[in-house]
Amino acid sequence: MTVPSAARVWDYFLDGAHNFAVDRRVAAEAIKFKPDLPDLARAVRVFLRHSVRVMAQAGIDQFIDVGAGLPTVGNVHEVAARLNPLARIAYIDRDPVAVAHSRAILAGNDQVAAVAGDVRDPAGFLDAPELTRLIDFDRPVGLLLCAVLHFVADDADPAGSVATLVDRLVPGSYLAIQHATHDAQPANTIQMLQYWNSQSPEPMTWRTHADIAAFFEGFTLIEPGLVELARWLPDEPADADPARFASYAGIGRKGTLS
Ligand SMILES: C[S@@+](CC[C@H](N)C(=O)[O-])C[C@H]1O[C@@H](n2cnc3c(N)ncnc32)[C@H](O)[C@@H]1O
Repeated sequence: MTVPSAARVWDYFLDGAHNFAVDRRVAAEAIKFKPDLPDLARAVRVFLRHSVRVMAQAGIDQFIDVGAGLPTVGNVHEVAARLNPLARIAYIDRDPVAVAHSRAILAGNDQVAAVAGDVRDPAGFLDAPELTRLIDFDRPVGLLLCAVLHFVADDADPAGSVATLVDRLVPGSYLAIQHATHDAQPANTIQMLQYWNSQSPEPMTWRTHADIAAFFEGFTLIEPGLVELARWLPDEPADADPARFASYAGIGRKGTLS
């Protein structure tokens, strides 16, 4: 409770109730550098929900959401269940508070599990009984990696983690990624990143479009491709800066599009 957590600061941006004074202090300071951080968090959730709808409409009925965070309105299981009441979801997070709150909220729902796991060690959760009880790797899966890979430093090999994860997925599976970038960013946004990294035990590594595109190797991107997050928003004003959320987002299908 004395150091900020990415999960709880994100929860604060999303008007959630699962955050402590230290999270609110660091969030408030970060907002001074980049005032639209709460809008960014909401935009990521819009993209996440859109990804689930796209995947569910393509017939996906099992999802793995890595770096799922704290339970917030409009979760993956709620969106998926609206389209397919039989959908199954495994939420993975390394933050014990996020996992504990998720378990409390999901109690009694046998189609959803919250699993403790680290994206840097996919083997540590892919075969966890709580996950394999729900996810059948012989059938297509929707894998969600939203706002999580930028918490993995280069020397922890994020490409290796993604490769291990997607190796387990059969063709026809889907992958959605949202990832922060310093491409085309003004000084205040970079200062916000530097501030976060000076305060947090979970520093971020922002990447280029090419770096992030490489995570989709073996996948065919659906329209509009790997683009600025703002381009996925249905209500984005025509004159808004597409780079304003400092991130790229994309959805791909393993193999070719059918
Ligand atoms: C910014 S929040 C994003 C939450 C959610 N995916 C969303 O898009 O709203 C980042 C989440 O990733 C989790 N996280 C960070 N590093 C992680 C890692 N190495 N493995 C698993 N989860 C991680 C944090 O605990 C936090 O819950």
